[in-house]
Amino acid sequence: MRHLVIALTACVLAVGGAEDLEWWQRTVLYQVYPRSFKDSDGDGMGDLQGIIEKMDHIKDAGADAFWMSPIFTSPGVDSGYDISNYTEIDPMFGTMEDFEDLIYKANELDLKVLLDLVPNHVSNESEWFVKSVQRIEPYTNYFVWADPKYDENGTRLPPNNWLSYFGGSAWEWREERQQYYLHQFVVQQPDLNYRYKPVAEEIKGVMRFWLDKGVHGFRVDAVSCLYEDRRLRDEPPSGQNGTAPDQEGSLSHVYTHNQPGNYELIHQWREVVDEYTRQDGVARILITEGDSGLNYTFKYYGPKTRPGAHLNFNLFLFQVLYKDADAFAYNETINTWLEHKPDHCWPNWLVGNHDNARVATRAGQALVDAVNAVLLWLPGTAITYNGEEIGMNNTHVSWNQTVDPPGRRAGPQNYSSFSRDPERTPFQWDNSTSAGFSSSNDTWLPVNSNYKQLNLQQQQEASESHYKVYKQLVAERKSKTLQKGKTIAEAVTKEVFALVRELDGEDTYILAVNLGNETTRTDLTASIPSLPTSAAVVVASVGSGFIRGEILNTTEISIPSKGFVGLKGSPMKSHSASFSSSPSSSESWKALFFFFKRWDSAPTVTRCADGHACTES
Ligand code: NOJ
Ligand code: MG
Repeated sequence: MRHLVIALTACVLAVGGAEDLEWWQRTVLYQVYPRSFKDSDGDGMGDLQGIIEKMDHIKDAGADAFWMSPIFTSPGVDSGYDISNYTEIDPMFGTMEDFEDLIYKANELDLKVLLDLVPNHVSNESEWFVKSVQRIEPYTNYFVWADPKYDENGTRLPPNNWLSYFGGSAWEWREERQQYYLHQFVVQQPDLNYRYKPVAEEIKGVMRFWLDKGVHGFRVDAVSCLYEDRRLRDEPPSGQNGTAPDQEGSLSHVYTHNQPGNYELIHQWREVVDEYTRQDGVARILITEGDSGLNYTFKYYGPKTRPGAHLNFNLFLFQVLYKDADAFAYNETINTWLEHKPDHCWPNWLVGNHDNARVATRAGQALVDAVNAVLLWLPGTAITYNGEEIGMNNTHVSWNQTVDPPGRRAGPQNYSSFSRDPERTPFQWDNSTSAGFSSSNDTWLPVNSNYKQLNLQQQQEASESHYKVYKQLVAERKSKTLQKGKTIAEAVTKEVFALVRELDGEDTYILAVNLGNETTRTDLTASIPSLPTSAAVVVASVGSGFIRGEILNTTEISIPSKGFVGLKGSPMKSHSASFSSSPSSSESWKALFFFFKRWDSAPTVTRCADGHACTES
């Protein structure tokens, strides 16, 4: 019933004003996963020269900026998220000169480069940690150290019940120091102690180092975890069914996530990027990976008067990436986020990253174009994970080939439910050796066996392809309407989801997706009466049979199963649509963290308890 109410209520949100938008508001932001983008020297591992070699592709896809997962010196336990030196390039990826070449090439192509800043933790091999274990100043208090507890038999126990994101206690004993240290992720990733003020200053130094090298900002990792409860109180059970007691999902993270200090820290780091923005007027930005549940996500943007991140990743679209998601699910998911967004927060959307299964695997290959269409025509910044523009699939990775820590920890029987390796396999460039990723057959993760049919070159040459659809969708984004127009997201029927963008005096953009299993004929004007009655096809899904330029009647559109059509029509008739608030969704959509539902059933994870991260259901 609730769905029906929402379906019938048009939601209109104004985005942007008359002023020109900043580059980061207009852009498609592309995520490069450096290990898997392009290997230039044949060692089976991606590298910076590889990124330089293939950078034209990022531009060709229509992105104006890209961010890269960590490229810094690291033992590689968590694929580079365990950094031992923040201001050095890992030799595996190349040298500082290679990095400078990369910035040079990016400038030539007018692409902005963002780095991954990982401030919550470092590698246990970093000098900071090694010295902290030995209580060598100034590092003694750089980490979260705590004394043990003892049970009645005198057995030593961790200070409290906190659990690591990757399973088991979040505390590790160090004999030398006779104390435990906190690690919210793997044992090799000790959490930094932000209650000790010099630590935040160190991170500012790291930011300035890279800003001076010419980057335009940072994607900031795991900011939900920056501060922890000063009193180290036990966390209460989450009550989530089916979660083993040593899995972090069994606890409600009221003392380890979203602590008030986090937002203040982001504000301080924002001031650093703003210093650079003020120098030449070109925005340097922060994109945080904070909790994207409704209760916290907008807090990472900060209040208007004390800004934090420019964007906090919005993972809401992950909720509809399952095979039988219907138009009501799309409608509720999108409108819920838009309705709760404070005016000063700029929208952003993503459908893939290196922590979650790929769209083609979760939602099905048939829906790849439609999902990209929704992503790219929603208001705000669109973020694409490398490979999603060609509809890459998750790759089968055997137990022996598995490297991701949560996968390894789960063991040979269960690793596939936890490992993130399948979405991290090499980019499929062409049908040559290792999909053109490497001259070697021996790559760090296996190449998907479908690469001969599914690769960029094939899609560039084919008369129609996911890539061509993607590019067309991005090209249309340059229009004023898609940049600044109002948004109406609507479930026209259970099967048909419509997204309409409208701007005074400008063409109206209409996207209609058929999520059902059969071809459906629909009258879009039945639920959106202000639509023009005819409009021209500008883009449509592969195999849908629509012809660009063809004029369709919006009262009678026939769309094949899982297909979409994107139309452009004259400005809308004066409409009666109004703001609306979804009646009851806000309470149930609380915490969304970086791991999300991996497979293709309905997203029970969207109903998880307050503060609790959503992993497997
Ligand atoms: C989020 C990153 O996206 C993920 O890959 C990593 O394992 C954790 N943060 C820890 O840094
Ligand atoms: Mg922390």
